[in-house]
Amino acid sequence: LNKPELKHFLKTQDYTRKDLENILELMGMLKEARKANAVPQLFKGKSVAMIFEQPSTRTRVSFETAATILGGHGLFLSPKDIHLGAKESLSDTGRVLSRMCDVILARVDDHKTVAGLAEHASVPVINGLCDWLHPTQMMADLFTMMEHLPEGKKMDDLTVAFVGDATNVCSDLMFCCTKFGMHFKHIGPKKYQAPQMWQDIAAENCETYGGRLTVTDDINEVEGCDILVADSFYWFGQEAEKEERLATFIPHYVITEELMAKAGENAMFMHCLPANDQRECTREVMDGPRSVIFDEAENRLTAQMALLVYLTHKHIEEPTAEIL
Ligand code: CP
Repeated sequence: LNKPELKHFLKTQDYTRKDLENILELMGMLKEARKANAVPQLFKGKSVAMIFEQPSTRTRVSFETAATILGGHGLFLSPKDIHLGAKESLSDTGRVLSRMCDVILARVDDHKTVAGLAEHASVPVINGLCDWLHPTQMMADLFTMMEHLPEGKKMDDLTVAFVGDATNVCSDLMFCCTKFGMHFKHIGPKKYQAPQMWQDIAAENCETYGGRLTVTDDINEVEGCDILVADSFYWFGQEAEKEERLATFIPHYVITEELMAKAGENAMFMHCLPANDQRECTREVMDGPRSVIFDEAENRLTAQMALLVYLTHKHIEEPTAEIL
């Protein structure tokens, strides 16, 4: 592996395409090793402190399992379990956890919390989802796209349409897809489209890496896309807007079999999950032959194994099989 310049994993934008490709390569090796029941104990004797301000199935289970498979341990810390935000500052929490654990993972309501922990921690801090980003999900998504590349296509050839609200998954996919030279489309009602700041970041990626960005409310833009992506129409803290949001998105921006057919007969369906079937997508699409949602979920584990190794083995220079 190339030595990471940055010790934290807060934003995919902090990493070059080459850095992310190195992590993807490591994911491939570790996934193979797991299949062979021969995962090297590269996190042996180490622990990851896992702070969760919000519920989680995939992120929690994948990190805890990844740490265990690699010979280490994950500690689940909900707001009820620790003093963070009540009796103890971010600074003291980051410094204390750094004295005992080797990695800190935090799923937070506000990006400032995970950034604050990183500022004071002396061990790598991983963003396990915040209000505008979901970087560990991105590693799983990019890897799943690679695993399911249409015949004869490269990552740069893909057109990915994210249909719905400008969520944290939408923003991060916008950044990652344009970084990998893809055409990324955000298709959603004007009120819920990606803000200009995100579009500016993606535009910079397009300039550097050759991607393309389209932001539109025209659902017909799914035509010819390789991948359709859905996400929730509302999230924690947006419950008061629920009715208005559902009325705006449904039925126009729901991924149905008809919409998949409009995209094309080989189009894939992705969703980070949890999904609310019959809202942002139908059960038929989720369980259909072009859905890769459970591969995508499994690859959360693949990603977390690689991230724990990548962030704690800065001396590894090349992603060769010898490191395993
Ligand atoms: N996709 C995702 O982050 O799932 P969880 O909320 O279950 O962790």
